Amino acid sequence: VAVRLVDYRAPDFLIDAVALDVSLDRSATRVVSKLSIRRNPRGVPGAPLALDGDELTLIGVRLDGRALGPQEYTATPDALTLTAVPDAAFTLEIETRVDPAANTQLSGLYRSGSAYCTQCEAEGFRRITYFLDRPDVLSVYTTRIEAEKSEAPVLLANGNPGESGDLPGTGRHYAIWHDPFPKPSYLFALVGGDLGVLRDNFTTMSGREIALAIYVEHGKEERAAYAMDALKRSMRWDEEKFGREYDLDVFNIVAVSDFNMGAMENKGLNIFNDKYVLASPQTATDADYAGVEGVIAHEYFHNWTGNRITCRDWFQLCLKEGLTVFRDQEFSADMRSRAVERISDVRGLRLAQFPEDAGPLAHPVRPDIYHEINNFYTPTVYEKGAEIVRMLRTLIGDEDFRRGMDLYFERFDGAAATVEDFLSCFADATGRDLSHFALWYSQAGTPIVSIEGAYDPDAKSFALTLRQATKPTPGQPEKKPVVIPVALALFGENGEKLDLASPDARADELARGLFELSESARRIVFENVPSRPVVSLLRGFSAPVRLEPAPERADLERLLACDDDPFNRWQAAQSLALRAIFARVEAARADSPAPQAQGYVAALRTLLAGADADPAFAAQALSLPSEIDLARESGKDVDPDALFSARMGLRAEIGRALLPDAEAAYGRFFESGPYRPDAEGAGRRALRGVALDLIAAGDPQKGGALAQRQFAAAGNMTDRLSALSTLALLGGDAREDAFDAFFRQFAGDHLVLDKWFALQATIPEPSTTERVIRLMSHPDFAMTNPNRVRALIGAFANANLTRFHALDASGYDLLTRVVLELDPKNPQLAARLLSSLRAWRTLEPRRRALIEPRLRHIAAQEGLSADTRDIATRALA
Ligand code: ARG
Ligand code: ZN
Repeated sequence: VAVRLVDYRAPDFLIDAVALDVSLDRSATRVVSKLSIRRNPRGVPGAPLALDGDELTLIGVRLDGRALGPQEYTATPDALTLTAVPDAAFTLEIETRVDPAANTQLSGLYRSGSAYCTQCEAEGFRRITYFLDRPDVLSVYTTRIEAEKSEAPVLLANGNPGESGDLPGTGRHYAIWHDPFPKPSYLFALVGGDLGVLRDNFTTMSGREIALAIYVEHGKEERAAYAMDALKRSMRWDEEKFGREYDLDVFNIVAVSDFNMGAMENKGLNIFNDKYVLASPQTATDADYAGVEGVIAHEYFHNWTGNRITCRDWFQLCLKEGLTVFRDQEFSADMRSRAVERISDVRGLRLAQFPEDAGPLAHPVRPDIYHEINNFYTPTVYEKGAEIVRMLRTLIGDEDFRRGMDLYFERFDGAAATVEDFLSCFADATGRDLSHFALWYSQAGTPIVSIEGAYDPDAKSFALTLRQATKPTPGQPEKKPVVIPVALALFGENGEKLDLASPDARADELARGLFELSESARRIVFENVPSRPVVSLLRGFSAPVRLEPAPERADLERLLACDDDPFNRWQAAQSLALRAIFARVEAARADSPAPQAQGYVAALRTLLAGADADPAFAAQALSLPSEIDLARESGKDVDPDALFSARMGLRAEIGRALLPDAEAAYGRFFESGPYRPDAEGAGRRALRGVALDLIAAGDPQKGGALAQRQFAAAGNMTDRLSALSTLALLGGDAREDAFDAFFRQFAGDHLVLDKWFALQATIPEPSTTERVIRLMSHPDFAMTNPNRVRALIGAFANANLTRFHALDASGYDLLTRVVLELDPKNPQLAARLLSSLRAWRTLEPRRRALIEPRLRHIAAQEGLSADTRDIATRALA
């Protein structure tokens, strides 16, 4: 069934308080829910009470203490409806029975390892008990959990701990938790299990002591130390940057191995995919550490942006997600290098969100219709949502942005808000009309910005015309111009930055170098320009748009040398690489010899020589665009094989030309001393990884020997994995030996084994599909574990373009098989895997002809989940 934004109605009933009594049992958990209900003055008078359920078994219902007869309600697994409901406030007591062990969807109450845990966002609470399972019903929860003491010595729920104790003679015990902050049901959580714990504490800015705890598998407590450190830094940062203080007496995090997403911000009890909690130098790469830091921060920041202020309905998901992603990106930028953080955030956006926005699954940041809300936890809602908040800050400036945020927290604390509510705070704080800006939330598609510059040597003026256009997306054939903040600078002949003067721009625009493009075109004539300038456009990636066409090669080379915006220097290097690779694709198509990329190679040599100043930045700038970048940039009739050979060709050219430079850099960045996961150490290791890859590209034998040595001697996972990826690409016995050694060394360590599975799935060789199929019968492979499925099948479908898109359709058949096998067990995961095909229409015709019937086959399955059906249907539309 379609749910539409325009159909929103306030609930007919409110639930002020919930008292839950959960008696944990593997297959028959008993849930008694006592609800304090009253009619909503804003609801329909006399309306029946219809509570949501999902696969529930009802045991009994009592109204104000009186057991209801079967004729007084209707109960199905999906709903509990009472027609005769008092007009005065009343208490409804509902008893249900659920089977956590049989819950393979990982939504509701389920088992991960030996623990009980919950996931209620978006609509999992209704899998525990009948409820008004919608985010605008806010209640105060008291949760009593009871369990066998030996099985679940640890019992946790939201809020602050209350009474606990043993139930003598039964082997069972209980704990009561109370959360004083009214919250929607999606933020409910409980955990029961035998877990290890790392404890710490935090003193808030007003001097309150908070007890912090991270619960993990026994024996892994030490691996939670970095997460704990990140948590404390997040708590401090939110105080300093946003004035937000933590509000409960305790903050608990539980790491589980079976989780559909990254983590969940349940009030006072965050539940995490353990991938984003556990990290040690031997098991986690620098990227993993950064992931832990970012996700810990993200979930913590939700306490204010998500929990204290929540969403009125699921169409407003970006209200909490886009804003919270923006906040975690800013946190990481402050903890590490701002430039490198920006580059990697934009890479992420372009990798997943741009293709989504350009394909059949495109939707506005605030969608106006959905069939399955779980399919809208997308890069568009999260990452493009964050870009909108960033643009808002860019447009109004840091100070006004902070004043608007303060107003938001003041006005909407304790409320379920909308995107309009959010924007109204910034409009009121600045006196600015944001109605046009708001279009970013409702219009899908990535705007394309183009520029045209004309230099007049006599007048010493430079006329710049900026244009924007957005292509149609599903359901939105006509597009309007949006408000685009364009950060720009002009550079002169000698690389000097020019002062901006123009009668066509506001003084503040000229002073800040930030111009608003809110019509389809804008012409700005700059004056006192001594010679034809180079334009550095969209500095810092000031808006989530595509720039087309990319600047000329000579201009890019100049920008790479002189731009003082590090993002645009990186962008110049990427654009040069793209040009060089596409030139190779063209040459191959015309059967002519590969063109050489001297200018680009020379620029890389300079970058490598100067890498010591900022190794992390240099590593980013020295990295070639990925195959996915290439596929996205070529836009249509994508031929993965042609892109792959062109990319490998350029890589070899660079490797040969820069071999001595790469060897020198490899030696210079040789790590010594103990591993530290900070940005500086990570930057050095990243650069060394890039150098190793260049050496292997230029001289495979030399690179192979070096990689083998690095692999054997590695003192941390970053160095070990960079060596293993080099060996994976080189192939041969050395590769297989390394994979075997890696497996033996880390047998039983599931997070490390995920890397072992993923890296094998990305080997760009014909035999890989067979290898993946073989690995699916490996004793360590399990369809029930989302991380493992994503590691093997997700990596294959998303990061191995030549194999996944093989012309014998073996990759497509494999994905189809896995999606259909997974669908009845874990529909969310199946649907997510299927969205690997989000850009299928941009492929060349032969591949499209192979994919379409497979999508139809999936869509035609009887009993297919709503999740997978929704993706398949939209992909085909
Ligand atoms: N709110 C969580 C986060 O972004 C994500 C939960 C998504 N869950 C889901 N079933 N779609 O931190
Ligand atoms: Zn989130």
